[in-house]
Parts: sequence; structure tokens; C-alpha cells
Amino acid sequence: MASVKRGATYVEKGGVGKTTSAAHIAVAAHNMGHEVLLIDLAGTQNDLATHFGITISEDGETNGVSIDAPISAVFGDDWAFLRDNIDDLLDRMTFSTDEGPDLIPADPGLGGADNNLANVPLEERYQKLDGFVEDLVADAYDLVIFDLPGKEDNIALNGLFAARSVVAPLKPGAFERDQLQKLDATLAEISADLNIDLGLTLVIPTIISSRETLSESFVDHVNSEYPEIVGEPVTKTADIGQNQNAGRTLYAVPDDELYATGKRAREAYSANTEQLLTQLTDR
Ligand SMILES: Nc1ncnc2c1ncn2[C@@H]1O[C@H](COP(=O)(O)OP(=O)(O)O)[C@@H](O)[C@H]1O
Ligand SMILES: [Mg+2]
Repeated sequence: MASVKRGATYVEKGGVGKTTSAAHIAVAAHNMGHEVLLIDLAGTQNDLATHFGITISEDGETNGVSIDAPISAVFGDDWAFLRDNIDDLLDRMTFSTDEGPDLIPADPGLGGADNNLANVPLEERYQKLDGFVEDLVADAYDLVIFDLPGKEDNIALNGLFAARSVVAPLKPGAFERDQLQKLDATLAEISADLNIDLGLTLVIPTIISSRETLSESFVDHVNSEYPEIVGEPVTKTADIGQNQNAGRTLYAVPDDELYATGKRAREAYSANTEQLLTQLTDR
């Protein structure tokens, strides 16, 4: 049976670098020879489609591409029918990016899908996405990365159930110690609720500035809390935001157009991706 490595970027907090990490890890893994699918279940303004310069038009009339088969369908009542009757369903759900990975963008139906899942019997509620990966994704890709919302909703729980493996970017902040404790507690609780072994696979200190003492002590703290699974700290750099706005990751930028901080951040994401790939098991 075909198998695929799975990982999810998840922290119950916004603005910590989940989406940025998902995009950079996906491209780094592609450059290392993997067939990568990114699935956006977060869908905020800073979404993965925008990161790759793909404009989704909601009315199908303005510039951009329209979504033919949305990811939210996976969570709906008609899913089994669609899966069994549309031959090129996965192709219709995915978009190619210029940087290698394929992308399933977030769609506006995810909010409604989250609500509808509340009415699904508990024993099926969190397994919809896992079924989709098994049925359609595992044959076509060898790595799938889910970008999850920064809250514990039914969509995030589906992502965690499907991935079993969490990549947690953490940025320095006033509540840094709480952040780590809360993350551990949340994952332990979800593992118990879903009856799975949900592991924290990689912790990435992000948006780290060597000029800020808070940043340095934060990295030390994360290192001492997670000596086994801490990754390379990702430097704070203006290159990240600027290139996100231009619809590309740091991997699509020529060296001479990056600051030293941008190059360091890119190297850190490459090292983190290598570390992640050695930790993820095929499933
Ligand atoms: N290494 C970095 N240096 C500077 N800014 C960054 C870095 N990583 C992410 N950002 C910025 O931080 C903000 C939040 O990142 P994002 O990946 O969207 O977080 P999340 O998905 O957790 O909400 C974005 O504006 C992004 O451009
Ligand atoms: Mg995000």
C-alpha cells in the first residue's frame, strides 16, 4: 500500500510563523526530491495561496483562479459519493505552485464544515481528513503538510488526527514559558481525546533576532525544554514578509537579492526540513 509522510504546523496561537513554516518546509522538501502536497486548513488573510502568488477568486469573475473542488467537501455528507464518482478529483482539488509543491488552498466553506462536524458522530468526526489522505493523497505524494488554524476546532483536530505529528513554531514573547507548557498540555489532552499517539516532532524558534536579549534567552529556554526536538532558530528578517507579499518563499529569491538575515532564515528552514524528514515515519 502506498504511504506518505505527514506533518502539521500547529500552535494554538496566531502570528507565530505556522504558515510561513509550512510553506518553507514544503519547498525545502521538494528541493530535496520529495513529492509534496500542502493543504491549507487555516485560511486567514496570510494564506498559503497568497504565499505562492496564487489568487483565488471567490466569485469566479475577477482575476485569479476559482476553486473547482474545495477541501471543505472532504468534511461534508456527499464526500463518499464525490470520491467514488469523480475520477480526477484530487487533480481538481490541487493547484501547482511555481516552486514545486502542489497546494490545496483554503476555501471559505471551512467555517461551515467546522460547524457541521459537530453533528457528525464522534467516532467519525475527526477521521475525515485521514480518510482523504489514505484514499487519494497517499498514492500521489510522499509528503503532505497541513497548515492548521491557531485554535482547537474540528478542522484542526482532523488535521492533527491525520498528521499525528506536530511542527510547532514558537516566537519570543511575554508568555513564552506558558506557551510551551500550554502546547504540551494541549497535545496530551488531544492525544487522550482522539486515542492516538500525537507527537511533537519539531519545535522551531522563529522570528529570532540576535540583537534582542529576549530572543536569545528564548532560544536557550526552548533548547533546554526540548533538547531532542528543537530545530535551528529562524532569524527575524524583512525578507520573509516582503517575499510573501510578492508571492514567493525565500527559496525563489536569488542570493544577491536577500539580506544576510534572509539567507540565514532560509538555511535554518533547510536544516529544519532535513531534521523533520528524518523524524517523520511513512504511514
Ligand atoms: N522569520 C521571520 N522574520 C520576520 N517575520 C516573519 C518571520 N516568520 C514569519 N514572519 C511574519 O510573521 C507574521 C506571522 O507569520 P505567519 O506564518 O502568518 O503566522 P501564523 O500562521 O502562525 O499566524 C507574518 O506577517 C510573517 O510575514
Ligand atoms: Mg497561518
